[in-house]
Amino acid sequence: MDAIVLLKDDHKTVEKLFKEFEKAGERAHKHKRDIADQVIRELTVHTWIEEKIFYPAAREAVPDTTDHVLESVEEHHVVLWMLAELAGLDPADERFDAKMTVLMENVRHHVEEEEQEWFPEVRKAMGRNRLTELGEQMEAARATAPNDPLQVPSAGA
Ligand SMILES: [Fe+2]
Ligand SMILES: [Fe+2]
Repeated sequence: MDAIVLLKDDHKTVEKLFKEFEKAGERAHKHKRDIADQVIRELTVHTWIEEKIFYPAAREAVPDTTDHVLESVEEHHVVLWMLAELAGLDPADERFDAKMTVLMENVRHHVEEEEQEWFPEVRKAMGRNRLTELGEQMEAARATAPNDPLQVPSAGA
């Protein structure tokens, strides 16, 4: 599969979970825990395959977008720490919904920048064959993703 199509599919999956979270009732603690756990899993795998494969390849193909890659990594950093906090937070805690709300704002902003400003340039520079090759590598790399968001490279620095 084309690397950019694969990443956009992941974004859609996460957005669906966000909408479900927003629809969940104030006291639907068990449901919201379940959604948050799925979000943690999806975004850990997604940031992992981006950082391991897509970001380095895109940076090499379009050196002009290096600043964008570096900012994206910092955005991942914040998101991954929030995911780690959410993993250990009781959904009945008054900070849980607020933390999810800020996480969703951060991720939506990040996704919009990736899709609107950056991916089109990468697509133009890489071409179809290279994107397909990267897509296959990312599909395979899903299996190597850690469970702990803090094990994704950008969480560390
Ligand atoms: Fe990203
Ligand atoms: Fe992404």
